[in-house]
Amino acid sequence: MKPFPLGDMPLETFLSEYWQKKPLLIRNGLPHLDSPVAPDVLAGLACEEGVESRLLIQGKTEQEWELKHGPFNDEIFSQLPESHWTLLVQAVDHWIPEAGILLNLFDFIPRWRIDDLMISYASDGGGVGPHFDNYDVFLVQTSGKRKWEIGDIYDETAPLRPDMPVSMLNKFEAIETWILEAGDILYLPPGVGHNGIAEGNDCMTCSVGFRAPSHSEILREYTDYVGLNLSEALRYEDPDLIAQSNTGEITQQTLEKIQDILRKYTEDKELISQWFGRFVTTPKYQQADPLESEGSENTYLIEDLKSHLASGGILVRNESSRFAFEVKADKNILFVDGYCFDPGDRDDYDINELIEILCTEIELSDESFIQTDDNLNLLLKFLQSGAIYLAES
Ligand code: SIN
Ligand code: CO
Repeated sequence: MKPFPLGDMPLETFLSEYWQKKPLLIRNGLPHLDSPVAPDVLAGLACEEGVESRLLIQGKTEQEWELKHGPFNDEIFSQLPESHWTLLVQAVDHWIPEAGILLNLFDFIPRWRIDDLMISYASDGGGVGPHFDNYDVFLVQTSGKRKWEIGDIYDETAPLRPDMPVSMLNKFEAIETWILEAGDILYLPPGVGHNGIAEGNDCMTCSVGFRAPSHSEILREYTDYVGLNLSEALRYEDPDLIAQSNTGEITQQTLEKIQDILRKYTEDKELISQWFGRFVTTPKYQQADPLESEGSENTYLIEDLKSHLASGGILVRNESSRFAFEVKADKNILFVDGYCFDPGDRDDYDINELIEILCTEIELSDESFIQTDDNLNLLLKFLQSGAIYLAES
């Protein structure tokens, strides 16, 4: 059974008392957890093109703080001072399977809400300064020690320190201070000010970040999706137009017609559901081919898939691919990497079950699902795009 990071705390208690409400320190939440990457592997990742990484080197004065963006190289790492620097690497789960496994331990929260795993490695005294984030985060200490100062709740009106290369609160007072050691976890809801300072070297912290799309993002993305699929022939109409005393006026009737048009699309549950699954499964850093594109470099046949599974091989979800499903009229609609797969009207228990498994398990073996033609064809589609790949168990 996989470890449960909340320890003895029932999930219901966490959700009702802490989630999106207040910080929680979980001592020894993941006691036997190894860091998903060794420090040199993390540094190597930060040297790769396409991986988002930052180095924050603290000076004695604000003007001396230095922020560098990756990709880095050996020379940069060899010139680092003895202490007071932090390396931060985004979305490590997209590149390192072990990081994906750690992220998956937090799937007691709906998966579409889980964003990615950022890993920081700090020397003594290293940190990014007091700040707040707009999302929930579990900060998992995987090696070394970090002192966490927890403050009040802040929002975008909070003054930030000028001349700093990263967002840092101008005024920050710790209400609580905790020292986290390997295996300890700190949960923070959005807006809570925090300041993490490495105590000694070899301080590695994994941040399990959650996504909460902004209203602006939701509106813009949804209207883009809807707009792109509408015919240009659909237009504002006014066959009921009546003479106006001043034709310079935009009348209330006109505004009501505009509101009706907007309402028509914002109240269309079907359209919202088609868009949302696509939206939340669109990968941040896509490695697989888009599923709707023609032609792929991977040319597998059903026979390849069958023989791979029969010989004990497994299917693994691409680390960067996102899977989610919606239940609609007793069938499961699958979304993968921004693509929608509807199993049709068929009352096909096996394919509905496979969809659920695909959205839960990172790896599939021949024992995980029934090998019907429809199931194998669905998996083949994802194999061709690279959303799943073949591996040895
Ligand atoms: C860190 O890991 O150093 C920073 C994480 C955070 O404060 O969000
Ligand atoms: Co933070």
